[in-house]
Amino acid sequence: MLASRCFAAPAALRSLPRCQQHSQQLFWRQAAAQRIWRSYATTSEKDKVAKFKGTKGSDGNYTVTLIEGDGIGPEIAQSVKNIFSAAKVPIKWESVDVTPIFKDGKQVIPDEAIDSVTRNYVALKGPLATPVGKGHVSLNLTLRRTFNLFANVRPCKSIAGYKTPYDNVDTVLIRENTEGEYSGIEHVVVDGVVQSIKLITREACERVLRFAFQYAQDVGKPKVRAVHKATIMKMSDGLFLSIAKEVSKEFPDVEFDAELLDNTCLKIVTDPAPYNDKVLVMPNLYGDILSDMCAGLIGGLGLTPSGNIGDECSIFEAVHGSAPDIAGKALANPTALLLSSIMMLQHMGLMEHADRIQNAIFKTLAEGKTITGDLGGKAKTHEYADAVIKNLA
Ligand SMILES: NC(=O)c1ccc[n+]([C@@H]2O[C@H](COP(=O)([O-])OP(=O)(O)OC[C@H]3O[C@@H](n4cnc5c(N)ncnc54)[C@H](O)[C@@H]3O)[C@@H](O)[C@H]2O)c1
Repeated sequence: MLASRCFAAPAALRSLPRCQQHSQQLFWRQAAAQRIWRSYATTSEKDKVAKFKGTKGSDGNYTVTLIEGDGIGPEIAQSVKNIFSAAKVPIKWESVDVTPIFKDGKQVIPDEAIDSVTRNYVALKGPLATPVGKGHVSLNLTLRRTFNLFANVRPCKSIAGYKTPYDNVDTVLIRENTEGEYSGIEHVVVDGVVQSIKLITREACERVLRFAFQYAQDVGKPKVRAVHKATIMKMSDGLFLSIAKEVSKEFPDVEFDAELLDNTCLKIVTDPAPYNDKVLVMPNLYGDILSDMCAGLIGGLGLTPSGNIGDECSIFEAVHGSAPDIAGKALANPTALLLSSIMMLQHMGLMEHADRIQNAIFKTLAEGKTITGDLGGKAKTHEYADAVIKNLA
């Protein structure tokens, strides 16, 4: 079911003696090559890219998995629940706990949580704290790998009422989410020399690029731009770029071009407007960094939503962390999680509900009367949520 499990193999290599690492790597590479060939044959069906497969239950509601998360997670999740309930969104929440448990000597996400997302095809996730340098692995990374969430979608749109250097930002960035520089294949060659492998496969490039073109069509942006460094990483980024050119031929109504990453960074902070009609798509690390830079253009991570898209399941989440410094004080701004839940409703085809709630959020922010401290206001988390509810037309 979950192709991403294959990505677990390289991590295991790190614990092997160095001589065994080489033969294991060779084996893994061959296995990966076979997997690519096999799954490449099936990904050509256009309608298989990330369509929402959930159906309403007998009560007329979709069931959505809710991972409230750590720190401010439960507070901001409560705001979403209250607003959805007031807006009569046909959704029933199924809360799950993803705190890792030990199974067969390994730390894993509990089966109940995995089963819930698998069953419902969609989840909304609050921030999860990752211990630095100790404790369990990043749960965010584990979720991405477990559900093969191959594309990370990060729209950044200027918000009226929150002044930033530019008022006209409307970028969409799609980041490959499963491999590249974050493949987790690292080893010591000799003392003082480490090697970190950037894995790029045709399969992963194809699916994220095809998704980017489909997304561009869906949101009415007529251009896709691949961002790369194929001048330096001739083989890995070269493969990404050549597949981008191939996939673009399937979408003759969407204009395609490519740009070097450093050039994109310079141009987008100088003048973001020329990027408003484009969807940017890129390998993992570049997307991680550039998406935070775009978030900075609209006022930071507290206002930025995201969706992690997979073939089977998708998980929508705020980009910010668990904010332990303000947790439990009703100071958190729930906007990012709310906007992520809007992306989720759009993914599920619940457009009218999405528009209605989104308009109420933007109206509340533009009024500027009931906003949270991070935006310069004095409102508590629940007071802001109540103001959004009042603004539901
Ligand atoms: N997607 C995720 O689950 C995710 C993302 C980033 C960090 N984290 C985790 O979160 C924990 C804390 O990380 P951090 O402190 O580096 O980043 P953070 O995003 O939690 O906090 C950075 C600053 O922004 C503020 N902030 C963040 N979200 C806010 C909100 N909604 N409203 C108002 N203020 C907000 C915080 O108070 C803090 O001052 C770490 O364990 C980290 O691993 C999780």
